[in-house]
Amino acid sequence: MEALVYPETDKKSGEVKPTAKTMKALVYHGPGKKSWEDKPKPILTAPTDAIVKILKTTICGTDLHIMKGDVPAVTDGRIIGHEGVGIIEEVGNSVSNFKKGDHVIISCITSCGKCEYCKKGMYSHCEDGGWILGNLIDGTQAEYVRIPHADNSLYPIPAGADEEALVMLSDILPTGFECGVLNGQVKPGDIVAIVGAGPVGLAALLTAQFYTPAEIIMIDQDDNRLDVAKTFGATKSVNSASENAIDKIMSLTNGKGVDVAIEAVGIPATFELCQEIIAPGGHIANIGVHGKSVTLHLENLWSKNITITTRLVDTVTTPLLLKTVQAKKIEPKQLITHHFRLDQVIEAYDTFGNAAKEKALKVILTNDN
Ligand SMILES: NC(=O)c1ccc[n+]([C@@H]2O[C@H](COP(=O)([O-])OP(=O)(O)OC[C@H]3O[C@@H](n4cnc5c(N)ncnc54)[C@H](O)[C@@H]3O)[C@@H](O)[C@H]2O)c1
Ligand SMILES: [Zn+2]
Ligand SMILES: [Zn+2]
Repeated sequence: MEALVYPETDKKSGEVKPTAKTMKALVYHGPGKKSWEDKPKPILTAPTDAIVKILKTTICGTDLHIMKGDVPAVTDGRIIGHEGVGIIEEVGNSVSNFKKGDHVIISCITSCGKCEYCKKGMYSHCEDGGWILGNLIDGTQAEYVRIPHADNSLYPIPAGADEEALVMLSDILPTGFECGVLNGQVKPGDIVAIVGAGPVGLAALLTAQFYTPAEIIMIDQDDNRLDVAKTFGATKSVNSASENAIDKIMSLTNGKGVDVAIEAVGIPATFELCQEIIAPGGHIANIGVHGKSVTLHLENLWSKNITITTRLVDTVTTPLLLKTVQAKKIEPKQLITHHFRLDQVIEAYDTFGNAAKEKALKVILTNDN
């Protein structure tokens, strides 16, 4: 392993002086403050680590939450970002699945593969991992990133694959599939409602079609996203800002409601909508990150044989999803609307932060260095 050499810092300002051991990164400096600046290039700190040179990364809705200060675990000085693809630059002595030069998908979830939760396939609760990248440790909106437990937290990219499309496998596709479609137990012939047509709701829409539901009704307040959803396979759409979503869905389902309601927004109104439109025997699958408590209407639901599920994405389905992308059963590239160079990341945040106006879904940042 390389000796631990840190780059020089300016004694007065504390700023890192650019050297061969520095890189550029997007750094969080408290709510509303971020900058593209020099940071020490990451080094191996455990034999299970890998250093990955970022090729492509993206911005997640969760990063916008971080930037607003909604995720207090993220502290001043943190490099954020938890999605991307890259090339292995260096591996620790005990990494056996990867070597320098390999192209990899970086999972948003870090997992040791050995602890009690990992053995159950619940990587999100790994005792030495979980969602730490761009949260508790430095993340992927940088030229290089250190990935702990590399053997289990990275996935090899097959030769000739469209790497840009595979950035969608770091987080949003497994999230829509695991938390929405699998937990919601979508079955052939089902009527499925997906509340929220953001990248995660659209990922649920793409992967729900593996199970040939009869109808997929998309609900959002943004007509552009609803139009996109129609081209991705939604059979019906409801704009809940301009029409009464409950009445509309009840009339679309002969007053019965839907078999599966997937919540992909993360606010009380949308979870309550799921409770209103669920048919007897139905599944409400929550995906959204909720910051406020939501009323559970057991007075209506107690007799309706409803299942409600919650989940932090585990990314255990990444290899399966990769096969479906390779076989062209789903085309995640459709989710990419904008391209920037990695050093234009601040501009990319402005575009992604004004998603409705900019008609943005996922933005791709490419590291040209
Ligand atoms: N459970 C997990 O592991 C996990 C992982 C990743 C993301 N998430 C969460 O999933 C959710 C969706 O993520 P995203 O990136 O698609 O977010 P996003 O903000 O891009 O999309 C949310 C969509 O909801 C729509 N919306 C807002 N208010 C609405 C309302 N009242 N009625 C109907 N639609 C409404 C918006 O127009 C937007 O299209 C977020 O809460 C995110 O934090 C959860
Ligand atoms: Zn994310
Ligand atoms: Zn573990």
